[in-house]
Amino acid sequence: MKQYWLIYSRLIGCVFILLSSFCIFFTTVTHSEVIHHQRIWSWPPPESGPGPPPGPSPQNKTTPAVLFFGDSILDTGNNNDLLTTEMKCDFRPYGMNFPSGVATGRFSDGKVASDYISELFGVKSIVPAYLDPKIQPEDLLTGVSFASGGSGYYHMTPKISRVWSMLKQLTWFQQYIERVKRLVGQEKTDHLLTKGLAVVVAGSNDLFITYYGQGAQWLIYDVDHFTSMMATSAASFVMQLYGYGVKQIAVIGTPPLGCVPSQRTVKGGLPRNCAQDLNYASQLFNAKLSIALDQLAKTLPNSNLIYIDIYSPFSQIIENPQDYGFEEIKKGCCGTGLLEVGPLCNRFTPFVCSNVSSYLFWDSFHPTQRFYKILVKLLFDKYIHRLD
Ligand SMILES: *[C@@H]1O[C@H](CO)[C@@H](O)[C@H](O)[C@H]1NC(C)=O
Ligand SMILES: *[C@@H]1O[C@H](CO)[C@@H](O)[C@H](O)[C@H]1NC(C)=O
Repeated sequence: MKQYWLIYSRLIGCVFILLSSFCIFFTTVTHSEVIHHQRIWSWPPPESGPGPPPGPSPQNKTTPAVLFFGDSILDTGNNNDLLTTEMKCDFRPYGMNFPSGVATGRFSDGKVASDYISELFGVKSIVPAYLDPKIQPEDLLTGVSFASGGSGYYHMTPKISRVWSMLKQLTWFQQYIERVKRLVGQEKTDHLLTKGLAVVVAGSNDLFITYYGQGAQWLIYDVDHFTSMMATSAASFVMQLYGYGVKQIAVIGTPPLGCVPSQRTVKGGLPRNCAQDLNYASQLFNAKLSIALDQLAKTLPNSNLIYIDIYSPFSQIIENPQDYGFEEIKKGCCGTGLLEVGPLCNRFTPFVCSNVSSYLFWDSFHPTQRFYKILVKLLFDKYIHRLD
């Protein structure tokens, strides 16, 4: 009798949990629909009219170096020696399609965005992590990555993720400049900084982890206020980079974050739809970031600050995956593809998908190298004319 009672009470408990998660799901959906008015992909409205004027051919641009700051999209292994973080991936099956199949600490099956950006600028096809102990002096002269997976603009984000903050990345950069000066002297260092290109990508973890996730800042701030704070810190970061002598700075916004597999799993219901609240937050942040950079550019002499919209091409590919040869866009390739990321996608993961190239996402957060390659090429073609 007692046992029946136990089972019965557990059953009630389960029903309660089910009901409450349904309620959370339901309120999230209705809430976001109210503020969203079906503006799923087209806000801000897609640009139309004649495209950008054709610039000089990319080959003529002589970029001496590319420097990367931000999060996992650009990180090439800076978290490898961090012992306390889960934001690591220097183990198989990460890197299975990287040259010689090594897991370098890149959050993908192969190369990441920084590698492809550097390659398109004719600098080099693999960008070393600044903290890589095997780094050579020559590596410094053409650029490195300071980015750290799990990092973000908002001060709490790297603390929650236990990774390198944006401020710490700037400290490494300061140290980097001193090393370059010792190698090639002041004049060549100045040339590297003024003619080189710095690329910054962050913001996703501020929204995923700090606002909606573990950091639960949604309890304190509305999304409008929070994204404003993010944009302010982004602008402050860019100003500091400029302060170190970098003139050309490209800042990439956030993609439709609600469409990554983990968010589809948590908030997308059975059809695995995109989470509208995250997509809306992402668009709001992008709009503010773009305005903040425009305003900042006016106050910094000889600066070339470029806001790069990644949201539109990303959505374009998600809406027309077949045009780009993708068959699976809702699940990651590693494991079940529903939630695995970092330590959950590892050598004990029972399986990876049979054809990584047909997947948009490698794990439940991060793109496959094929997707990175396509996306970076689209951005490069669209924005190359904006660079000196
Ligand atoms: C670019 O370089 C090519 C060959 O090096 C040259 O023919 C062409 O005029 C250059 N274009 C510009 C816009 O400088
Ligand atoms: C894997 O996917 C790519 C991209 O869709 C496709 O071109 C290729 O033929 C596929 N390979 C196999 C073995 O199915």
